[in-house]
Amino acid sequence: MLDIKIEKTMNPKPIPGPENPLVFGTIFTDHMYVMEYSTEKGWHDPAIMPYQPITLDPSAMVFHYGQEMFEGLKAYKTEDGRILLFRPDKNAERAVNSNKRLMIPEIPVEDFINGVKTLVEIDQAWIPTKEGTSLYVRPFVIATDPFLGVRPSNTYKFIIILSPVGAYYPEGLNPVKIWIEDEYVRAVRGGIGEAKAGGNYVASMAAQVKAHEEGYSQVLWLDGVERKYIEEVGAMNIFFKINGTVVTPVLNGSILPGVTRNTCIELCKEWGLPVEERRISVDELEEAARTGALEEVWGTGTAAVISPVGHLRYVNDVFQIGDGGIGAISQRLYDTVTGIQLGKIEDTHGWTMEVGNAR
Ligand code: COI
Repeated sequence: MLDIKIEKTMNPKPIPGPENPLVFGTIFTDHMYVMEYSTEKGWHDPAIMPYQPITLDPSAMVFHYGQEMFEGLKAYKTEDGRILLFRPDKNAERAVNSNKRLMIPEIPVEDFINGVKTLVEIDQAWIPTKEGTSLYVRPFVIATDPFLGVRPSNTYKFIIILSPVGAYYPEGLNPVKIWIEDEYVRAVRGGIGEAKAGGNYVASMAAQVKAHEEGYSQVLWLDGVERKYIEEVGAMNIFFKINGTVVTPVLNGSILPGVTRNTCIELCKEWGLPVEERRISVDELEEAARTGALEEVWGTGTAAVISPVGHLRYVNDVFQIGDGGIGAISQRLYDTVTGIQLGKIEDTHGWTMEVGNAR
């Protein structure tokens, strides 16, 4: 594992107090982590430095061909003052897979985790403690070669920034309205849908704006070939409870393998609920909604945690799920996942990783 050089800021910024609503992704901490890559040296010179703008050549490849990967995870402070990360190994492993697909050199898992832990430890005073808040960790890689030909870059920067956040959706844990998209698609099998790449998110924006204009929070994507099978929500994976069975789309190559998705599947199985990872068509969903078999719908994601869905729209049909309120499984998952993340519920799975020995 590489040694990280540390330079602390001489001008610390004011840390937001508990009255600050911490609108998602708007405030950044005092420091950032940067590691360089070149073909000659591999990944080298990791450093933590004051949070600051970066200088790039206008011809840097990331600006032209979007060779970029990102991750998202969270740090929490427990009531007894410990700092916990939730499943950072899963993010580091997913980054390896995303990088492979995007032709970005793999970052060793131990350097990824060490970068996150060291930065969070340095900026630990920024971890908010009010209910529903956390310190969001955003690692990302950009291609930096000054070159306009299309090929993988020979140089990269791996950067980690931190942002104290509240709920991702303004609705908080209140059910969101979801628009099932029938015009645009996000990804196709064989494409980059299962990699965490900025390109997947820009592909989603036209539909997201359209859905917002219609009063919906997010877009639920159908598969890119038949436009028939449910995929994911873009900022979340999606779960349905149909006739007592928990159903979520099987990972098929165009769906992001979410860490919270995996956590929810494991918890539901432990609770004795039947769980099916399979293809589910929008027709099956409509039918289940019509007959009352669709009991609950929720999304899962690092930023969103568990987000109950109260309302779905597909073409000209609108369905309310249950009584439009928070379903029992969504509530239990939210309480359990956040309970483990905050150290209030015993972590019997080894999902949390302690940072430093701060008290
Ligand atoms: C996350 O949940 O961490 C994400 O990356 C989703 C998002 C904010 C785009």
